[in-house]
Amino acid sequence: MKITFAEQAEADISAFVIDENGKLPAAAKDLDEQSGGLLAEAISQNRFTGKEGQQTYAVMPKAASSRRVVLIGGGKPKERDARAQEKIGAFLVKSQADSGYKTIALYAEDAEFAARAALGASLAAYRFDDYFTKLKADQKPSLKTFTVVCPDERTAKAAWKPLEAASEGTKLARDLMNLPPNILYPETFADRIKELEKQGLEVEILGEKEMEKLGMGALLGVGQGSVKESKLAIMKWNGGKKGEDPVALCGKGVCFDTGGISLKPGPGMEDMRGDMGGAAAVTGAMLALAKRKAKANVVGLVGLVENMPDGNAIRPGDILTSASGQTIEVLNTDAEGRLVLADVLWYAQEHFKPKAIVDLATLTGAIVISLGHHHAGLFTGDDDIADKLTKAGLAEGERVWRLPMGSEYDALLKSQFADMKNIGGKTAGSITAAQFLKRFVNDGQVWAHLDIAGVAWMDGNKSPLNPSWSSGFGPRLLDRWIADNYES
Ligand code: BES
Ligand code: MN
Ligand code: ZN
Repeated sequence: MKITFAEQAEADISAFVIDENGKLPAAAKDLDEQSGGLLAEAISQNRFTGKEGQQTYAVMPKAASSRRVVLIGGGKPKERDARAQEKIGAFLVKSQADSGYKTIALYAEDAEFAARAALGASLAAYRFDDYFTKLKADQKPSLKTFTVVCPDERTAKAAWKPLEAASEGTKLARDLMNLPPNILYPETFADRIKELEKQGLEVEILGEKEMEKLGMGALLGVGQGSVKESKLAIMKWNGGKKGEDPVALCGKGVCFDTGGISLKPGPGMEDMRGDMGGAAAVTGAMLALAKRKAKANVVGLVGLVENMPDGNAIRPGDILTSASGQTIEVLNTDAEGRLVLADVLWYAQEHFKPKAIVDLATLTGAIVISLGHHHAGLFTGDDDIADKLTKAGLAEGERVWRLPMGSEYDALLKSQFADMKNIGGKTAGSITAAQFLKRFVNDGQVWAHLDIAGVAWMDGNKSPLNPSWSSGFGPRLLDRWIADNYES
């Protein structure tokens, strides 16, 4: 679906926002006259009050300039924040995508509203239907163009530009996650990352031989039961000052997590196609930065592996040596994400001097129990980065919630045979996972970990901004955090 902005437009469908208990806006006057006053009547006749999410529509006479007029509830104008504005665009796409009409024009009050409504529309128009081979024409969306009409087209377009980039990043992350694990595995994920060179990113891919030379025994250990080769992908966006240290984004990219020898139960295991959600978020964020030509140096690093049970797989009891030199006793092969990230974090610090590191991972089932599907878990010892990530998440509707860390939790990782074990006890599973990662972060390094296991996909918890399974959580938050803190 194409998004455009204009000061005037003619479209098959015209849509107007009606404030709660409000009147027909001035922009709708012409169409109201053409309909013989039907629009004003529609507001007063039925239960339509303009509450958020309400819609009513009128079929227009042949001679009118639109075929259909949609009146959409805008709630109370004072409460119409960015989220509410996005939802208006999204609700319209949802209700009109299959209408049979091709074009829609939404009348917006100002440029900020116009851009946010466009973002909502763009995200809601996302489809992942490549694998349906039998869709008939009338099962595919008819809507091709979404025009936002607003008094100041230029300002609206300028406000849309960064949001469009973020939306592209989100949709890439969704695609990567929605793809099945027989199609998207470490090598093909790396291929897709390589394609981002066209966007101006510098991309380097390491295979198993190179990682062996670097001693990345933790990451390689996870992948050793798979016939698919493990990969490390490094993406650089150099939009900042030459030579300035970058911000590093690290992602867990377990393309499929069976649990390994500590095999997961069968029901629901297919969801583990999304266990590369952290890597997808990082990749999407890198695309967003490139699309809007961010004035910052950022490096994205993703560890890509598949966790399989196999004659060659790691066993409970195995001791792995990570690239940092620290040894890890593997007591549960299903706690694999932290093993992958241990070596990715090491690489990020060994090869760059990151101003800050944020890692993202679908790391623990425990975070889904703690926070459900509406906040990602945030772990860090640094109040400043915690505050900034929290603000960026609130601004973009990808919320994070901080949980504690501390030496008492770290003590739960003590192993009988090695420097640490890869699981804690029965309690505080998300915190002990974060403590494990912290052991691979150098003293003084600014770092935060986001556990996105509860927010990366939607499982019966669909949002108006996303009709598909994967949410594409991360790129909007990361892009905003970088824009607000690392660009002047
Ligand atoms: N990928 C899972 C975490 C997960 C669970 C993500 C549910 C999304 C939804 C991770 O690799 C895992 O299996 N973690 C274990 C750790 C445990 C063995 C200490 C878990 O959470 O059960
Ligand atoms: Mn696992
Ligand atoms: Zn996992």
